[in-house]
Amino acid sequence: MNLRAEALEKPEEETDHTASLLRLKEQQQEQRAETKTAISVVGLGYVGAVSMACLSDLGFRMVGVDVSMDKIDAIRSGRSPIVEDRLEELLEKGVAQGTIDATHNLVAAVLETDFTFLSVGTPTSEDGSCDLTYVRQASRAMGQAIAMKDTYHVVVLRCSVPPGTTLDVVAVEIEKASGKKLGPDFGVCFNPEFLREGVAVADFFAPPKTVVGASDQRAAKAVSDVYNTIDENVIFTSIQAAEMVKYVDNVWHATKVSFGNEVGRLCKELNIDSHDVMDIFVTDTKLNLSPYYLKPGFAFGGSCLPKEVRAVSHLGQDLGVTLPLIDSLIPSNRNHVQTAVDFLIPYLDARIGFLGVTFKPGTDDLRESPTLDVMAAVLESGAEISAYDPNLRFGPMLQGQIDYVRHAVPRQADLMDKLEAITVEDAQTLCDSVDIVVVSHATPEFREAVSKRKFGVQVLDLARLYKELPQDDLFYNGIAW
Ligand SMILES: NC(=O)c1ccc[n+]([C@@H]2O[C@H](COP(=O)([O-])OP(=O)(O)OC[C@H]3O[C@@H](n4cnc5c(N)ncnc54)[C@H](O)[C@@H]3O)[C@@H](O)[C@H]2O)c1
Repeated sequence: MNLRAEALEKPEEETDHTASLLRLKEQQQEQRAETKTAISVVGLGYVGAVSMACLSDLGFRMVGVDVSMDKIDAIRSGRSPIVEDRLEELLEKGVAQGTIDATHNLVAAVLETDFTFLSVGTPTSEDGSCDLTYVRQASRAMGQAIAMKDTYHVVVLRCSVPPGTTLDVVAVEIEKASGKKLGPDFGVCFNPEFLREGVAVADFFAPPKTVVGASDQRAAKAVSDVYNTIDENVIFTSIQAAEMVKYVDNVWHATKVSFGNEVGRLCKELNIDSHDVMDIFVTDTKLNLSPYYLKPGFAFGGSCLPKEVRAVSHLGQDLGVTLPLIDSLIPSNRNHVQTAVDFLIPYLDARIGFLGVTFKPGTDDLRESPTLDVMAAVLESGAEISAYDPNLRFGPMLQGQIDYVRHAVPRQADLMDKLEAITVEDAQTLCDSVDIVVVSHATPEFREAVSKRKFGVQVLDLARLYKELPQDDLFYNGIAW
């Protein structure tokens, strides 16, 4: 959080000792204003108005653009066009200092600034897709301005848009309208907006994260310089990943809300206080609120997750509580297994080897292993299969499990009868004797065997063996990356 935001949040008695630091900060801001790094903001709604106010507070000279004269007049007179805590105070200050102006003339605004932050609306079209009409219109107008500029300009897209929009729509429209080239003449960045309405100003100065996808280093550096006083740890990524992050974040937040509400409806019918349950749920930052279970990989299985999801769905039905999100989990999981099976269909004439058979590494538990579903499906279709799993130690103990699976899942009975016979002694032997290797466990042993396999042997990696995907391995495939 910057010093100003910090000071504004502190009680009166604490502000004294930060006063000298604040003065220093204001001197720095004045110096920056003198250097006149100028930013235009196109679209003065919830996102744009906050950007105007907060960037001006950081010392940048801001020029806002909108098609609405009401919004332009409000910003010019230091009034907030929206209800947002602390926004008016910062706008008022910016106007008084002469660092905030607004206009309806987009071309003029781009001409007199070094960056343009684009925050026009991207509403839902009739067919449910994202309507890019305003993004296209604004991009064309920016292109007309860039055509007249003899200096480098950076366009920063802040709208939530489908991946590909920054390069395929914004950059393309600018190139068409300007006759100039992305790279030497102008740069584009996607810098998603993560602020929450109501506390957007506070969030601006203490963002949950700052993500920048840039067309090149020059554009990336220019944008990170804008943010360097509020976030030293800007996350740089590809433009498409930055665009996707914004969608994934919001879908995740919606998932959390719907999940909490489904738990609430179920708890109500059971006369349990849902807040008692969820207060405990959120204390678990090891498994519940953590990166655990969130990385794309293979389907869930084992003795608990599928069974408990089915039981909770059934409970909902019994109580007459509709739980569409929870009910969708088993079908979604099945879909993931089917995607792996579908990948293997063209290879049914080839020898298919499975590295990892149990439901996850480090256990001999075969119950509801999604790999068994894949193995059974291709075996049923006539494929020749083999397998290796270091935890499959055939003997009386494992036989109990095999008998259980044969009984519980009739479709896997044939596979259970053959499991010992198709199992080879180690991972390397498996890789040396097949045409395609299916990897279900990301273990160092499997990683090494796959890396040493013969040229031309296909890999279907369901578990993500490598952090960085092999770039030059034409025979390496995944289903979720
Ligand atoms: N509201 C949020 O909290 C939030 C958060 C993150 C991302 N976003 C995304 O940011 C974008 C803007 O959202 P918003 O809530 O600020 O929208 P908004 O509708 O409040 O504001 C958009 C503004 O753009 C103006 N505009 C439209 N076309 C224009 C043009 N050609 N030239 C100049 N101005 C033009 C409109 O008049 C309007 O004032 C959207 O893509 C949205 O999905 C919003």
